[in-house]
Amino acid sequence: MEHEKVVVIDFGGQYNQLVARRVRENNVYCEIYSYRTPLEQIRQMDPKGIILTGGPNSVYEPGAASAPRELFEMGIPVLGLCYGAQLMMHVLGGEVLRAPEREYGKTEMVLDRPESPVFDGVPETSTVWMSHNDYISRPAEGFEVISHTANCPYAAVQDQKDKLYAFQFHPEVLHTEYGKQMLRNFVIGVCGCKGDWKMEDFAKRTIEEIREKVGDGKALCALSGGVDSSVAAVLLSKAIGKNLTCVFVDHGLLRKDEGDLVSKVFGPEGPYDLNFVRVDASDRFFSDLKGVTEPEKKRKIIGEDFIRVFEQEAKKIGKVDYLVQGTIYPDVVESGLGGESATIKSHHNVGGLPDYVDFKEIIEPLRYLFKDEVRKVGLHLGIPEELVMRQPFPGPGLGIRIIGEVTPEKVKIVQDADAIYREEMDKAGMNKVASQYFAALTNMRSVGVMGDERTYDYAVALRAVSTVDFMTADAVEIPYEVLKTVTNRIVNEVNHVNRVFYDITSKPPGTIEFE
Ligand code: XMP
Repeated sequence: MEHEKVVVIDFGGQYNQLVARRVRENNVYCEIYSYRTPLEQIRQMDPKGIILTGGPNSVYEPGAASAPRELFEMGIPVLGLCYGAQLMMHVLGGEVLRAPEREYGKTEMVLDRPESPVFDGVPETSTVWMSHNDYISRPAEGFEVISHTANCPYAAVQDQKDKLYAFQFHPEVLHTEYGKQMLRNFVIGVCGCKGDWKMEDFAKRTIEEIREKVGDGKALCALSGGVDSSVAAVLLSKAIGKNLTCVFVDHGLLRKDEGDLVSKVFGPEGPYDLNFVRVDASDRFFSDLKGVTEPEKKRKIIGEDFIRVFEQEAKKIGKVDYLVQGTIYPDVVESGLGGESATIKSHHNVGGLPDYVDFKEIIEPLRYLFKDEVRKVGLHLGIPEELVMRQPFPGPGLGIRIIGEVTPEKVKIVQDADAIYREEMDKAGMNKVASQYFAALTNMRSVGVMGDERTYDYAVALRAVSTVDFMTADAVEIPYEVLKTVTNRIVNEVNHVNRVFYDITSKPPGTIEFE
């Protein structure tokens, strides 16, 4: 992909992807590479700038993640962040020591050189986010201090002549008030990037590239109806039309009307030129799930059945040349430190690579995009917002939102309750607050009363969380009125439910899903 590019070198810090996100927010394309990547390879990429991320090591420890001196001598601007800043000093002859006190949290930073290009538009005092045990006790020769904090005499230093900058703080986290501005100053101001990386261009170029690569070959895509596989499928369809076959395995564990929505968009009545195969395999899934109550076992069965059904369909098609996967950049980066790893991480919605599908190569058109970029491409390609803006839905579907045995009756209950819940949440504008919300079916039955009758029915659990990364999450404070409406509607409209609970457990200790 030929485009002006910034390279983010990853030293194992927890914010590595965030750094890349911030760069891309300026419409500047960037990629993450491990610090182990040979310098020659980085040089050949001809980056406009290099950013070194934070990391867990101490630069002076033997075997610590390092960088060669030549990295700073290529004439390419370099910005070091936290560990990256310390490393730059260490490698270039400065001194890094253990700080008398670990510094963690928001700190006020004062500019010593407000005229520095990286501080364009940054006020003389502002808040920055610090998280470090070591500190720069003496900058390398040729560097001057451009800002400090109470505990950190060299919060930022620069060698303007060589375009080298080092920040002890983390501009990529939002707690650093002017962090975005500083990163923008670096990539646009210092590196001279134009900032013209646009999703429209990405889509257009990717379609052309696929067309060229696949030619008259045949491609096969497992379509789940999720954002990633949908966008991947549409890119392929625009590139190769009917030479693409999408197989949509309906395991019977989808949300209410979801299978029909996917079929409407991708089926023959939809706007796309492709072969669409919907397989109703629910009988098989229900039969294999009979009597199974253990969550991991359910996941395994669903994952395996999925692959087997997909394979069966693939066999009917015969030999295909390419298998399309909706892998996105975080999958790539997480599959190996810094994303240098070429390992193919199976797309988790598919649950693994089908062993017996006869194909030549895998195509992953979204391999370099973050989720919100995938969404932008999807909207640009005209995929309905309903699909593109969908919240995450696990591959094993409602199978892991039903505690205990999964049966068609229980699936129907949770589908209906979930549809009501989502409708009311959307109506109340809670979809703007919650990152993910859904109903689950507990395995609890209890006595209730309906009209004159005694009931012995299920309890539905509602979940709504706000989260940025889905690794940790907080329960959303849903207005009581909304909860009341939802509860009334569910117990009145859904058979076999006589109680509704709202789960306010955060993650950890809970998980987001309710299995
Ligand atoms: P947990 O429950 O682990 O979920 O807190 C974190 C996020 O991951 C989603 N999730 C899955 N997504 N296949 C998926 O594609 C799965 O098997 C799966 N399990 C959990 C979950 O919906 C949440 O967004």
